[in-house]
Amino acid sequence: MARDGMNVLIIGSGGREHALADALSRSPELGRLLAAPGNPGIAQLATCFPGADTPGRWLELARDQAVDLTVVGPEAPLALGVVDLFREAGLAILGPDRSASRLESSKRFAKGCMERWGIPTARYAAFSEFGEALRALPDFGFPVVIKDSALAGGKGVTIAADPSQASSALERILSRAGAEVVVEEFLQGTELSLLALMDGQSAFTFPICQDHKAQREGDQGPMTGGMGVICPLPVSQELRGRLDREILEPTLQGLHGGGLAYRGVLYCGVLVTEQGPKLLEYNVRFGDPEAEALLPLLGGGLLSLLRAAASGRLPAGPLDVQGASAALILAAGGYPQAAQLGAKIEIGDLASGVRLFHCATARRGEQLVVAGGRVLALQASAADLPSALASVYAAAERVRFDGMQFRRDIGLHAAALR
Ligand code: GLY
Repeated sequence: MARDGMNVLIIGSGGREHALADALSRSPELGRLLAAPGNPGIAQLATCFPGADTPGRWLELARDQAVDLTVVGPEAPLALGVVDLFREAGLAILGPDRSASRLESSKRFAKGCMERWGIPTARYAAFSEFGEALRALPDFGFPVVIKDSALAGGKGVTIAADPSQASSALERILSRAGAEVVVEEFLQGTELSLLALMDGQSAFTFPICQDHKAQREGDQGPMTGGMGVICPLPVSQELRGRLDREILEPTLQGLHGGGLAYRGVLYCGVLVTEQGPKLLEYNVRFGDPEAEALLPLLGGGLLSLLRAAASGRLPAGPLDVQGASAALILAAGGYPQAAQLGAKIEIGDLASGVRLFHCATARRGEQLVVAGGRVLALQASAADLPSALASVYAAAERVRFDGMQFRRDIGLHAAALR
């Protein structure tokens, strides 16, 4: 057992957590790497604890295994208050506490913050009653954006083209006891993902990513959790300055002013419109698949960054990264409506430098099988984006499972944003 390095526990089981494990395992400061619950890909890099799936079990595990730092991947454990529990017990953990996690777990709360903090965002109204929401629709016109205010695993947003689609979306969400919806004006523009690491005082910005959230080429089809990412997305100096001044800085000030303790990754989902950048949403974690594209660009430096954020001592950003990265999601047949599970996955030889992250796989005996909607992510880094994309698309030809689907236009229309 290597005891001279830091023992790190990753909470989560998807492609983002596999990418975290991959990046952390390249750090010279790492001791033992643990994951709970982990997945078959992570198990090649870390000791996995598949039975550990509640905050209490994670705390017990961190104590038993002498964990020095816990890194939380997904939003659900943060919303449950895992960070509060670890901090009360005096254990180091990276992520926002339960109160600050409402920036993602309550879209209504997040929109209220954006309004109070003077951050440009889409006009909205929030409702808990179906009739009231229905009556408000004409104020927004069509298409209209309907969001489940609560966590919905990346499937809570509907862009309704007409009153009947809007009514079905409202009914689906508001039939749940205690549910709320956010109704928003539909804005046109280009999306980008702005991720920053916060240490409670300052923010360290990562290279900008661009996800592709619609299921099919040309941004057609239903919304998914994300089908592919390029990083860095080239943006003009002017836009970079506006993102900092109009979104990140007021967010930092607002968090301080509101007494929200934020140590962790903050993801700002931004739409660049003709009127400038508008903040669509906050997420309180690394994006998925943004993490799969971004983290391989950081070399072995991730652990020292995460440790610095957890202890409130971040270096000044942004980070200077070399080259470009692309991550492509291979999804199950039927995703996102009803993923077909259980198909056998066959993986041929992949070119050196291509990474294969497990997002939703399981082992049935020796056989790897599909265990969720987004199954695998292929990633490659190269000197430029076209070369990175060529590598991931060549690698996609080497992976097979019944029903496998992927978008063939990730990064194809990437142009510098102004
Ligand atoms: N890729 C979108 C998300 O992580 O929410």
